[in-house]
Amino acid sequence: MEAMDHDSHHHDHGEDHAHHEHEHDQGFKAMLRYVRHAPEMWSSEVNTAVVERLAPMAGETVMDIGAGIGAGTMVAAKRGCKVMAVEPTPYMRRVLGLRSLVFGQRENVEIVDGTAEATTVRENSIDAAWAVNTMHHWSNLEAGVGELVRVLAPGGRLLLVDEDFDSPEHPDYERFGAMRTDEHAHHFHDVDPEVVGTALKAAGASVEFAGMGEIAGRPAVIVEATKPSSSSE
Ligand SMILES: C[S@@+](CC[C@H](N)C(=O)[O-])C[C@H]1O[C@@H](n2cnc3c(N)ncnc32)[C@H](O)[C@@H]1O
Repeated sequence: MEAMDHDSHHHDHGEDHAHHEHEHDQGFKAMLRYVRHAPEMWSSEVNTAVVERLAPMAGETVMDIGAGIGAGTMVAAKRGCKVMAVEPTPYMRRVLGLRSLVFGQRENVEIVDGTAEATTVRENSIDAAWAVNTMHHWSNLEAGVGELVRVLAPGGRLLLVDEDFDSPEHPDYERFGAMRTDEHAHHFHDVDPEVVGTALKAAGASVEFAGMGEIAGRPAVIVEATKPSSSSE
């Protein structure tokens, strides 16, 4: 419930009533529109593959960075993990709150208002963390990787994936074609895996892989790292 409470206080304020209701209505419609037009964010093969690759065990605490409406979060919650779902966008947090409630996973999912750069999560507390299609949104790479290394427990695993929608090999290449030709739609920057790997090493992580690869049959930027168990590594 808590996730749905934010907007529900505004309805008894006399002359402001209509205004607030309108805003609320707009927000709700936008949310529905979003959910309808983004089925791949509801459940995605890439998110399932990412969680399976990290193979978190029941009882482990994991973190979904830029969780959106929970494609990865729900997979891990169903495995019995405690999921910190870090997401900066309010309506995505609301959808995820409702979704986890409806599917009986609310207790396994903690919805956190944060970003990769500032998760607000306790240090050394995360056994495995992932980010799918969020790196291109990060405003500060060094701050992001520094924060992720901070919250990972010693031995904690990290998997960062951004699909390469610009590759003709990507099954959705044609679908995003129109966006690609419209300069103004390019509101995100490309992610260079080597730069991410270098930043992670500088932040103290061991990097197992940083390059272009394939996940769930899609070309992607893939970065895999671990926080060393001892500070001497
Ligand atoms: C394309 S969606 C991907 C959502 C989800 N990971 C998935 O695969 O379905 C990108 C997400 O990144 C979030 N985001 C934006 N800026 C962010 C930041 N600085 N750190 C973490 N996530 C961010 C957005 O709110 C959005 O939910």
